[in-house]
Amino acid sequence: MNKKELEKLKNEVLKRELPKHIAITMDGNGRWAKKRFLPRTAGHREGVKTLRKIVEVCGDIGIKHLTVFAFSTENWKRPDGEVSYLLKLLREFLKKDLNTLHKNNVKINIWGNISEFDSGTREEIKKAIKKTEGNTKLQLNLALNYGGRSDIVKACKNISMKVKLGELDIEQINEDMFNSYLYSENQPEPELLIRTGGDYRLSNFLLYQSAYTELWFTDVYWPAFNEEIFYRAILDYYKVDRRFGDIQ
Ligand code: IPE
Ligand code: IPE
Ligand code: MG
Repeated sequence: MNKKELEKLKNEVLKRELPKHIAITMDGNGRWAKKRFLPRTAGHREGVKTLRKIVEVCGDIGIKHLTVFAFSTENWKRPDGEVSYLLKLLREFLKKDLNTLHKNNVKINIWGNISEFDSGTREEIKKAIKKTEGNTKLQLNLALNYGGRSDIVKACKNISMKVKLGELDIEQINEDMFNSYLYSENQPEPELLIRTGGDYRLSNFLLYQSAYTELWFTDVYWPAFNEEIFYRAILDYYKVDRRFGDIQ
């Protein structure tokens, strides 16, 4: 697709009310690499480039919240070498891109339990959060060591603790307040969840938050995902009739 056609597609996207929050399961890095007879790590490296581009596009068109699934609570099962490479890429991304992200008014949030990461990685994460905490244009939520189940269990534990301490009455527990105990806190639920890589599952991503999210799948592997496909996902989202249990 040439520049002019891409611009046309972007204008189509901008004609309607954009989703406030888009979530992406960035899957398929390993298979992208395998197809090219490269090590899986090469796929992860290439995937970071796609992430950089999509963050830029989101800022540019005015998406307010972007949540990307970068490392799941189940991804620890992978070989040590792959896990440490993924964390190395994360540190590099946070180091190299921090100034640009900050300049573009991007606020970095982490969804997931980072206490299980090594101290070097935790340091980079903390620096990025601190530097960008006042930013307001785009909330970039990096789901790292994230699992939808552990998100819900963590919320239950924290709520139970408050009840135990007498700070909260059981009657005060409702869906909205439960929401505020999740990593997503008070960010809106994603209207659209994109999953690349050809599989049709949630893989433990945003279980509570995605109750009414529109799901959009593509066979394209994450390193090959691009601005054009991203716009196509949004245009498809516009076509959906969202009923939320109601009738027409
Ligand atoms: C997604 O790509 C990245 C992470 C899960 C960290 P994969 O590494 O899962 O790639 P495939 O699915 O094996 O191709
Ligand atoms: C989902 O991909 C997690 C991330 C993209 C970080 P996986 O590759 O881990 O998911 P499964 O194993 O195919 O379900
Ligand atoms: Mg995968």
